Amino acid sequence: ADPTVQVPELLGSPLADVRTTGALPLPPALYQDGDSRGRANSTGADLTAPAHRAPLQAALDTVAVQAVPEATAAEVDAAMQRLHAGFAGWNATPVAQRAAILRRAADALDARLAEFCALLVKEAFKIQADCVAEVREAVDFLRYYADQAELDASGMQGRGVFVCISPWNFPLAIFAGQVVAALVAGNTVAAKPAEQTPFVALQMVALLHDSGVPADALALLHGAGETVGAGLVAHEHTAGVCFTGSTAVAQIIHKALAAKPNAPLPLIAETGGLNAMVVDSTALPEQVIDAVVQSAFRSAGQRCSALRLLCVQASIADGVVEMLKGALEQLHVGVPAKLATDVGPVIDDEAHANISRHVERLKREARLIAEAPVAEAMPRQIRPVAFELKRIADLGEEIFGPVLHVVRFEGGVDEVIDEINALGYGLTLGIQTRIDSRAQRLADAARIGNVYVNRNIIGAVVGVQPFGGEGLSGTGPKAGGPDYLRRFCAEPVLAAAA
Ligand code: NAD
Ligand code: ALA
Repeated sequence: ADPTVQVPELLGSPLADVRTTGALPLPPALYQDGDSRGRANSTGADLTAPAHRAPLQAALDTVAVQAVPEATAAEVDAAMQRLHAGFAGWNATPVAQRAAILRRAADALDARLAEFCALLVKEAFKIQADCVAEVREAVDFLRYYADQAELDASGMQGRGVFVCISPWNFPLAIFAGQVVAALVAGNTVAAKPAEQTPFVALQMVALLHDSGVPADALALLHGAGETVGAGLVAHEHTAGVCFTGSTAVAQIIHKALAAKPNAPLPLIAETGGLNAMVVDSTALPEQVIDAVVQSAFRSAGQRCSALRLLCVQASIADGVVEMLKGALEQLHVGVPAKLATDVGPVIDDEAHANISRHVERLKREARLIAEAPVAEAMPRQIRPVAFELKRIADLGEEIFGPVLHVVRFEGGVDEVIDEINALGYGLTLGIQTRIDSRAQRLADAARIGNVYVNRNIIGAVVGVQPFGGEGLSGTGPKAGGPDYLRRFCAEPVLAAAA
């Protein structure tokens, strides 16, 4: 914690005392909003603001998503041969030149913000605020990795053909982040986007080629994970895999890579989470509810970072649960293209069926706290919902939708962190307390990649909040952080001392 911020020790103080102290400074957030987003997007208007809305509305009226054919096995092989042959030339391209291409692509993407937002609305059904944030995040990745590559004194040598496999929930930012990290480090790249969101990936790859990435340095292969994805992983020319998606698929890829004759090969895996927020009796309930609603229901809960488990100290639990009910009633569940919408539909029928089954089971087995109303009906909506469970251990697996599980605890907060660690995931954690030393102690004890204090737990900012987990949540290194690019590189050759 920042020693210059004076936060009184409140251990043992009843909540009433805390409230009467009025303007107590909050503990410094372990992660605070930084200015990278602003810097990287200084030219980008907020297209959700009425004054700047026209370009986004025009794009929504005109941009159409098209179907994209799947790659055949022969096309996969041909692409891998081309990328293998292209490696030497791209790897020999000076880092400054590779970085310049990324910066050119960042400028082009920034200039096409409205168009890419419209694509995200139409292909991934994202609400508009999420679309603007996602395009900006992609711009940030491009600029940040360009800067990082140039800072690396070794000159960045790639490993060969890197396979990049990405999920549908950030079909632009995660897709682009993986691809440009691998490219700027000197690799050629076979990119396999999620089958639900191929078209935005197609547009991004076209933009990268137009910005100067050679045709034999980057290929896009569409199709199902079990065929095209598995074929890429198994290919003889694959020198490494960067994967973001579910823990189960990461484990399949890990085994497939380990079985290859040229194993071991590097695997960078960023996977799922069972993310919790721990709220002690000194926390500010209004702040807690704001953070919970953002973390659990924003993006219809379809973020790896999203909040799944809210652990509230028993002495304030009734009040927090009552406020949560009120907040759920206020959510606007509707169509993504409307500005007022807080929560849109989930990605596809399969996701809808999985989440619905979970909700129906909890309606039988747990205590329903509240379920948000629907403002405008459309297919594949899940009403944001909160249930109270008896124990943390009852949580089960990651449910990738707007479903919050609440557990009240009687004992100490440290034991709660032990139980959260025991879940085996380690992606994000929220701590809500006004005891500075406690926030630091819990953050130190948590085996979690990203810990946020007294705020929401989503929306890590590139270059400011490097993002990634441990345990079942991933291998590291964190995306958008200073260590990320090196994992894509061959070890630098050190000149021997004379
Ligand atoms: P998923 O694992 O089903 O699919 C991810 C990608 O893997 C897709 O492109 C898919 O086609 C491919 N794939 C599937 N089977 C494969 C196989 N056998 N071989 C090779 N590739 C294969 O995940 P999803 O449903 O697209 O995304 C949601 C999941 O992603 C959630 O678990 C979420 O937590 C996780 N996620 C993690 C992060 C992170 O940074 N940690 C970020 C976003 C999403
Ligand atoms: N980086 C994304 C977030 O922090 C997944 O929400």
